[in-house]
Amino acid sequence: TRRVRTRDLIAAKSRGDRWPMLTSYDQYTASIFDQNGVPVLLVGDSAANNVFGHETTLPITVDELIPLVRAVVRATKTALIVADLPFGSYEEGPTQALRTAVRFMKEGGAHAVKLEGGRRVAAQVEALVGAGIPVMGHVGFTPQSEHTIGGYRVQGRDNQGAEVLADARAVAEAGAFAVVLEMVPGEVAKTITKELEIPTVGIGAGPDTDAQVLVWQDMAGLRTGRTPRFVKQYADLAGALSQATQQFAAEVRGGEFPSAEHTF
Ligand code: KIV
Ligand code: NA
Repeated sequence: TRRVRTRDLIAAKSRGDRWPMLTSYDQYTASIFDQNGVPVLLVGDSAANNVFGHETTLPITVDELIPLVRAVVRATKTALIVADLPFGSYEEGPTQALRTAVRFMKEGGAHAVKLEGGRRVAAQVEALVGAGIPVMGHVGFTPQSEHTIGGYRVQGRDNQGAEVLADARAVAEAGAFAVVLEMVPGEVAKTITKELEIPTVGIGAGPDTDAQVLVWQDMAGLRTGRTPRFVKQYADLAGALSQATQQFAAEVRGGEFPSAEHTF
């Protein structure tokens, strides 16, 4: 087996094959996803929320994210590993974006990077692709801009679909190999998917994108409480882990653990 390449994903689109993508931030989940049919893993800046406990994705730094990328790369054999460029690490322009992306490729061992924005980051995308770094775009709702957007809001409603299409087209024309469409109406995502030759990766974008991505803790039910409408939970890891924790705690308190079989 060999690593998935960006051209495999473009070929999948021309065959009409859909593919799944998940976030991962550590070796065990990375290895499980890699061995169970997920060809692309994203070390997302959503680690800010899902690993480090921040309210938004804005605080995470390049120095915090690179070690997670390295762990995920080391734990996988076939998945293509995409690293997110954190807020503040590429907005200044192509030079800053290239300096940051090179760190993710060199120190993190990533196979591609992802950055948020459409027309406004086309120059950055072009510079990275020109330097040999595959880029995944991310348009529609872009969490790093949530203070401008005014919270988690669907983008491209009420005849604004053309704006999202223009952003997706801009990153595609700048050389991106795929583009995430986050929280856009299904019809808008369907149109963009038809218009572009590169694969679209939906999250809250309906059933007609070429790929689907979820944050793994959402997919596996590790996060509790209110989850966005676009999330489907395929397991109850929070329930399983709570149960295991209660039993371990009770058995320690009751003197049942460790028993003879666990004792040297
Ligand atoms: O950081 C992240 O988790 C993401 C995806 C949900 C697309 O950017
Ligand atoms: Na992200």
